[in-house]
Amino acid sequence: MSNAVNKLRAWKRLERHAKKMKKIKMRDLFAEDSERAGKFSLQLESMLFDFSKNLISEKTVLYLLKLAQDRKVSEKIEAMFSGEKINFTENRAVLHTALRNTSNTPVFVDGKDVMPKIKEVLAKMRRFTEDVRLGKILGQTGKKLTNIVNIGIGGSDLGPVMAVEALKRYKSKDINTYFISNIDGTACAEVLNKLDPETTLFIVASKTFTTIETLTNAKTCRKWLVDALGEHAVAKHFVALSTNAEKVKEFGIDTNNMFEFWDFVGGRYSMWSAIGLSIALAVGMDNFEKMLEGAHAMDDHFRHTELKSNLPVMLALISIWNNNFMGWRSQAIIPYDQYLRYLPSYLQQLEMESNGKFVSRQDEFVKYDTGTVIFGGAGTDVQHSFFQMLHQGTTPIPVDFIIPAISHNEIGNHHEILIANVLAQSEALMRGKTVKEAAAELEKAGKSKEEIDLLKKNKSFPGNNPSNTIVVKKIDPYTLGMLVALYEHKVFVQGIIWDINSFDQFGVELGKQMALKILPELQGEDATTSHDSSTASLIRYIKNIRK
Ligand code: F6P
Repeated sequence: MSNAVNKLRAWKRLERHAKKMKKIKMRDLFAEDSERAGKFSLQLESMLFDFSKNLISEKTVLYLLKLAQDRKVSEKIEAMFSGEKINFTENRAVLHTALRNTSNTPVFVDGKDVMPKIKEVLAKMRRFTEDVRLGKILGQTGKKLTNIVNIGIGGSDLGPVMAVEALKRYKSKDINTYFISNIDGTACAEVLNKLDPETTLFIVASKTFTTIETLTNAKTCRKWLVDALGEHAVAKHFVALSTNAEKVKEFGIDTNNMFEFWDFVGGRYSMWSAIGLSIALAVGMDNFEKMLEGAHAMDDHFRHTELKSNLPVMLALISIWNNNFMGWRSQAIIPYDQYLRYLPSYLQQLEMESNGKFVSRQDEFVKYDTGTVIFGGAGTDVQHSFFQMLHQGTTPIPVDFIIPAISHNEIGNHHEILIANVLAQSEALMRGKTVKEAAAELEKAGKSKEEIDLLKKNKSFPGNNPSNTIVVKKIDPYTLGMLVALYEHKVFVQGIIWDINSFDQFGVELGKQMALKILPELQGEDATTSHDSSTASLIRYIKNIRK
């Protein structure tokens, strides 16, 4: 007998409840209860999480919390923090939280406290970043290293890219940060074309140090440097961030120039580790550590707060509700902050690589949906791209709106217009406009009966599109830390509810293996026979056209 999640009584009850809730209009729920916003909001420090604009009632929350209890979410949270090997397919603990454990308490893996090593690397990062920023560490020809190039992909890129942009206002003016991730030669060429080898520091960021994109890009950059300054320059212009000292050595980077992290840090959870070196170089180690403190504050809240008042838990449960019970599988993440414009891509990897899984911890193929299709971009830009579909598409798309109350650039009334827009969008998505209301508006505007008949449906809005709104005071390092940790823990809770391992990523392997097989076929003269006819003819066509 299967003990699958979707067989639980709590799950079945939610399925029945969802059928009833689907018939309800959110605008009526607000009209009936003036206290609704307060009932469905939580706060941590200056962060407000308002989830009242979801198609939920008090019963929904109660039922979701029961599901969380049945799935033993509290026990599982404790298991993660205490270093249990919850990444069971790789036999690893999951301790990105230890990287930001500013509490002076030990964290044990296999009976050994990991905190001294973590602190050692943080101290090494501090020395190095301060020396580079102060010009105590110089390049081969005695010039200051002012151009920092992070070479990495996935988790070894997206966190640093996102955080450096988010904290741009904290960045030193004389440090420029660049990122090379894609294997497309254009990525390398476009960065290198701008740079002077004498002032460039390359950071090769790779947990495994086996990723083909990163190693190929690093080799190209190494050659560019050596061609200009000679082999000796490598020691002064290259550092590595990795868990794999052997491979770092093999690549030709002295392990003294390596900043270590560990297997208990997943790639997409690694911006708090040495992988954050480019962030620390850009904004300084003090600001980097403030980011760790913010994340730690969220960790503490997550670990010690009852489920119903727990921000990450409720964020996860609402997402599960929309995904599994309402049947809305995608989710737009829209920060109304230009500096957070890379947050959606960061969260896309975090959520989709973590929870896009189809095998349960019970070793069964799951019979319910896991994972959420995450996409997004900065508001108000995206209002003019995909919002049409949010307002008048045929399936609701839940949204997370993220707004700082104060901008780093309070110019004229820009920020008030920005805030007015985000609030208007969430209200419009919730409330909608009935055909009758649209007709009345057209009539008021003096339109003829024919025009009203022609336009009233097109000018109506179904509403009932769910959204969360997360308000923070300002995007500073501490708040960014809180925000990212909020989503990390959301993903964790979803993984627990879905009974999957959120910490491996075997799904990325098949394509990688097949690319390795195709590569010699593209390079050689032999006819390609071992593929399906589409792949084979594409290989032939491209080879031909490249001649
Ligand atoms: O996409 C697969 C993946 O393993 C990610 O999980 C990881 O963030 C990325 O590749 C880069 O891996 P590495 O840091 O080992 O180069």
